[in-house]
Amino acid sequence: MEHNKDILQTKVGVLGGGQLGKMLALAAGNWHLPIYFLDESRDFPAGPFATGFTEGSFKNYDDVYNFGKQVDILTIEIEHVNTDALLQLEKEGKKIFPQPSALNIIKDKGLQKQFYKQHQLPTSDFQFFDSGEAIKNAITAGQLQFPFVQKSRTAGYDGRGVAIIRSEADLQNKLLPEASVIEALVGIQKELAVIVARNEHGEVAAFPTVEMDFNPEANLVEWLVCPADVDPKIEQEAEDLAKRVIEAYGICGLLAVELFLTKDNQLLINEVAPRPHNSGHHTIDSCFTSQFEQHLRGILNLPLGSTKMKSPSVMVNLLGAEGFSGPAFYDGLEDCLEIEGVKIHLYGKANTKPFRKMGHVTVLAERMEQAKQKG
Ligand SMILES: Nc1ncnc2c1ncn2[C@@H]1O[C@H](COP(=O)(O)OP(=O)(O)OP(=O)(O)O)[C@@H](O)[C@H]1O
Ligand SMILES: [Mg+2]
Repeated sequence: MEHNKDILQTKVGVLGGGQLGKMLALAAGNWHLPIYFLDESRDFPAGPFATGFTEGSFKNYDDVYNFGKQVDILTIEIEHVNTDALLQLEKEGKKIFPQPSALNIIKDKGLQKQFYKQHQLPTSDFQFFDSGEAIKNAITAGQLQFPFVQKSRTAGYDGRGVAIIRSEADLQNKLLPEASVIEALVGIQKELAVIVARNEHGEVAAFPTVEMDFNPEANLVEWLVCPADVDPKIEQEAEDLAKRVIEAYGICGLLAVELFLTKDNQLLINEVAPRPHNSGHHTIDSCFTSQFEQHLRGILNLPLGSTKMKSPSVMVNLLGAEGFSGPAFYDGLEDCLEIEGVKIHLYGKANTKPFRKMGHVTVLAERMEQAKQKG
């Protein structure tokens, strides 16, 4: 017990203080684990739940380095952090999960694709281009054909930085100017996600596969269904694949693996995120262990928790309404609270903008059809 008591006094530092940080802090609170955040303002979602909050930029070398010096173990809630500072801290003996070397690969969608190819992990075909101009030249020279998907190597987030180019017109209007990776356009049957966790002992666990439904306009996940409506064989393959991916990276903590199930039932890796993920929010209410607790278990080298499902669920993101920016308010809150199995999570963001993630609702039901109706 002495040993565990020490572990639970570990000062955990988190780069980023948004909603993922907030939910991580709530999980840390169950164990009274001290948790510190670095982000621009303590008014951000994690602020009120933090043991300590440092105002600064997770993209700035000095801010990250100085923050890291004050904690025992560092983790992230966003990939776009200053990894040079993390590499230096790691050299000085600081524990950092996900490991900065893995983070450097994952931050760059080009390096990620290369990583899967090197490790014989299935992903769509791809090539690199330095600029939008180079892509146009390749088309003119007949070296590249429509349709294809263009992704900014380093500026992507929440669907921004992704362009589907099907025609000359798209080439004129949608093409991104920066260095990008071009991927074959996959014939998608379903988009799935598997969240896996690993600790330093090498123990690995996968949450049940979830199915993501997209809002085509915002290119954001509209709702998320667990368990995914797929053949049990596919579900098993998806979990096995996600486990292979986390083992290849050697990451401790969580890894969310976004997958495409193609029209001919092949699984391809789209991309990964080495942190709690939007597609795992339902676990707070619907699984034995939440993804946030699991992340803490993974980075602290504690036994991983059971990923068993308590109940089927549907998760809906609460997004800022289209055409309105300003102070946030929530319509229909009380009506929602009256429905059995509806769990509301608000992130406390003062201002809304179109499609901004303001909260989420998890709907629990004994049967999936019921959950979908309530959603
Ligand atoms: N090769 C592809 N073929 C077909 N569709 C694709 C391909 N790559 C991406 N997409 C579509 O674009 C979406 C966004 O792509 P991706 O996940 O790479 O971007 P992102 O900006 O990181 O998104 P997010 O932050 O929401 O996960 C995918 O969920 C999928 O719907
Ligand atoms: Mg994605």
